[in-house]
Amino acid sequence: MAFNHQKYQPFHPIQKTDRQWPNKQITQAPKWCAVDLRDGNQALMEPMNVDQKVALFQLLVKCGFKEIEVGFPAASQPDFDFVRKIIDENMIPHDVSIQALTQAREPLIEKTFDALNGAKKAVVHVYNSTSPVQRDQVFGLDKAGIKAIAVAGATMVKKISHKYPETQWNFEYSPESFSATEPEFALDVCNAVLDVWQPNPSQRAIINLPATVECTTPNVFADQVEFIHERIRYREWIDISVHTHNDRGCAVAAAELAVMAGADRVEGTLLGNGERTGNMDIVIMAMNLYTQGINPELYLADMDEIIRTVKECTHIPIHPRHPWAGELVFTAFSGSHQDAINKCLQQQEITAPWQVAYLPIDPKDLGRSYQEIIRINSQSGKGGAAFILQNEYGIQMPRWLQLAFSPVVQKVTEHHQGALSPETIHELFLSSFSSDAPWALEHYNWDDQKGLTATVSSQSSPNEQPYELNEKSDGPLHAFVSAMSKKTGFDIEIQDYEEHAVQHASQHESHQTGSKAQAATYINLKIGDVNAYGTAMAADTLGAALQACLSAINYAATLKQST
Ligand code: KIV
Ligand code: ZN
Repeated sequence: MAFNHQKYQPFHPIQKTDRQWPNKQITQAPKWCAVDLRDGNQALMEPMNVDQKVALFQLLVKCGFKEIEVGFPAASQPDFDFVRKIIDENMIPHDVSIQALTQAREPLIEKTFDALNGAKKAVVHVYNSTSPVQRDQVFGLDKAGIKAIAVAGATMVKKISHKYPETQWNFEYSPESFSATEPEFALDVCNAVLDVWQPNPSQRAIINLPATVECTTPNVFADQVEFIHERIRYREWIDISVHTHNDRGCAVAAAELAVMAGADRVEGTLLGNGERTGNMDIVIMAMNLYTQGINPELYLADMDEIIRTVKECTHIPIHPRHPWAGELVFTAFSGSHQDAINKCLQQQEITAPWQVAYLPIDPKDLGRSYQEIIRINSQSGKGGAAFILQNEYGIQMPRWLQLAFSPVVQKVTEHHQGALSPETIHELFLSSFSSDAPWALEHYNWDDQKGLTATVSSQSSPNEQPYELNEKSDGPLHAFVSAMSKKTGFDIEIQDYEEHAVQHASQHESHQTGSKAQAATYINLKIGDVNAYGTAMAADTLGAALQACLSAINYAATLKQST
């Protein structure tokens, strides 16, 4: 049987009973290091060319990264050329430190320094693998042999750096496959490296602990990190960094728990590109902090630009449900969610803390519009269409009209593949509640003394003389109803009526007037035994009210003609 779990063995976690990290909270952003241009690039079907690397580098700078791993220049000519370009063309801001990865071998280290020559601040990142599988099966070396490689690499790095005194050098060491290495051995190797480097206040070092392959739940990784944090020498003068991969889908959680366990620094990529299931996604972790009211120390407001540039450079599309960034992550299709969002947004005050059901953050913070929040399909309810009409067209449907409109929308969605666009919903709204046939309003005037004078023309009989209304009543609407009642022979009763001024948050013009509408009205008439609804937007309240009334009458007239 191919699908056989007995092929695998459980991971045996370290026995740590004094763990402190479960009681810790993250209260500030870690130091970030973006490894998109190295680890991310090494994982691509088609590695980035120099221009793509420049574009991604510029994006990383724009996002506010102060530490950027720019490549593996000793292993790749485009990486070498790119590093030379950003140094020679002064593209590195003075507060940004670039970093290059190298294996612990002399020619590679030499070439890495050649690439970084002339940088103001740079980190040389040296690594070798330490886990039992790597020791036994890949390198055929015992623990002493593996430690010797690390110490030799550290020594070479330190020695060669003296040839380039104009650069402010820092060193980083990664015991690759740390999460699968016995913690005591990893600690021993890291301490040996630090003994060579002798970190101090003017030359700090970085000990980077990778979950090269994620092999446990994140709590086990946190124990491993805390183990090192509590025991490593020169703790004051080193940054403990973590570098998690996402094999089990927990890279972000692992990095978060690692920060609780003492890590100062986190390596990862924008949107999680990287080997296999990817590197830790810095966008997710930073946004997780942001939503806790913690400054992520990164600027991610233009999320669409981040997505666009990463995609252009990596050719990897983003999943529509990618946390914080995907196209659908702020969208509600379900009717009850839409209702709740709609209600909360109505109550949300601009300066008050964000409290909107189903929306953990304000999508506007990431450059997303409310238009994207609610999309209407067959799962949606009345609140959704109401929300869209209000946001897009300034139409504030009263509840009784929402109830009348809901089955109309529902019927259309059930025969329509996918979500309805705001334009379609608006057209549906107009075709349901707004009509100028058979009767169209031509002129109208209200005078407290003389009452209502108005003209309606018949669209079905263009040769018929327009109908002149002259009616006195308590108000223009009652006068109009009474006059139209006489004309049509309908028994008309006003059930509900609402009006509001049109706020031009909506970019759309009134379709009836062609000019900016000032007033919107909604009416429910009982016409015989027919419940008829009408709505209108017009330059003035009187025009909107009469037009809405006429729409409802038109509805009843059309119904009568067809029966
Ligand atoms: O995943 C990993 O272990 C690495 C190291 C080289 C840091 O990318
Ligand atoms: Zn990695």
